[in-house]
Amino acid sequence: MSKLIKFPGLVDVHVHLREPGATQKEDFETGTQAAVAGGYTQILDMPNNTPPTTTPQTLEDKIKSAKGRIYCDLGFNFGATAGSVQYFKEVEQKVFGLKIYMSQTTGPLLVNKIDDRDLIFKSWQSQLPIMVHARDHIVESAIYLAKKYNRKIHICHVTANQLSSIEKAKKEGLSISSEVCPHHLFLTIDDVQRLGPLGIMKPPLLSKKDKQKLWQNIDKIDMISTDHAPHTLAEKYDQTSPASPSQGGPKFGVPGLETTLPLMLTAVKEGLITLERLTEMLCTNPRKIFNLPNQQNTYVLVDESPTYTISNNGLFTKCAWTPFVGLEGRGKVQKVVLRGKTIFENGKFTGKSRGQVIFPQI
Ligand code: NCD
Ligand code: ZN
Ligand code: ZN
Ligand code: ZN
Repeated sequence: MSKLIKFPGLVDVHVHLREPGATQKEDFETGTQAAVAGGYTQILDMPNNTPPTTTPQTLEDKIKSAKGRIYCDLGFNFGATAGSVQYFKEVEQKVFGLKIYMSQTTGPLLVNKIDDRDLIFKSWQSQLPIMVHARDHIVESAIYLAKKYNRKIHICHVTANQLSSIEKAKKEGLSISSEVCPHHLFLTIDDVQRLGPLGIMKPPLLSKKDKQKLWQNIDKIDMISTDHAPHTLAEKYDQTSPASPSQGGPKFGVPGLETTLPLMLTAVKEGLITLERLTEMLCTNPRKIFNLPNQQNTYVLVDESPTYTISNNGLFTKCAWTPFVGLEGRGKVQKVVLRGKTIFENGKFTGKSRGQVIFPQI
């Protein structure tokens, strides 16, 4: 017996579509196709491109180039640097979040200096969140600054050791949210042996114990974000290609848009999370926290019964691989309807791209 689950379209506030600058990995078309195939109808793109999205012009260029080519709705996040502060007011109405890299990762956007971080938190006066990439306890400096300037913050890809600081800040009344990534919920450092460079990302995979801690605290985490960070296999295996100007070794990051729902539905079956709570984490909460526009008459029908082994076959992401090969996936996206139009059915896109570039409604 097959049972259909109807979700409002899934939402992901943290994806790297790689355009401009690295369209060998992904672009607006392939990235939004991967999103739709995974059940997403609304996603937000990150600013760590080449060139980074840190000026009104680079933002406009993205908006212009995305128009007419995207399969789901797409919004943008702006990159924080000491130099981009001057543009905050100007871009506030056009982006859903301000991304600050307080620890090293892919791209040149690291903000290391205390004074620069302070200036950034002081200058971002929007009601929309400052999205924080912070390794381990660096997250505490973000919480400190958010309190100092009474800013709304969102902690990207939480790890087990950050949960208590976030919970404490929330109890103290700070407007703080957090996201967890599927790779931290379904893989551990033990998998790195097997996966090699394909198991490398920021923050790195956790110990089994820390992974369990994330599951035990899943109800305290607001949303699931994929941190869809495609790199080509050639780049992943090329030890000489620097992940960032100062580092050698494989590029950080893994794709995730097409595997999140099947992994999470397996978790539902195993009793790790309820379907209701999953819907909150994948749809309701990100919409609410990021003030995303309502999508009228938009939904995803998922046949919940098929189970299968996740593989690299048939992926829409241009990078064409997943770190979750061999894991059990459950459910099949049968149909995606965007504003009343069927855009994806039985594994195929129907008709032209109907996604819209979206802007905050505040
Ligand atoms: C991301 C990327 O490749 O853009 N990589 C990653 O390992 N998560 C950047 C990021 O989100 O930190
Ligand atoms: Zn990050
Ligand atoms: Zn600490
Ligand atoms: Zn990311």
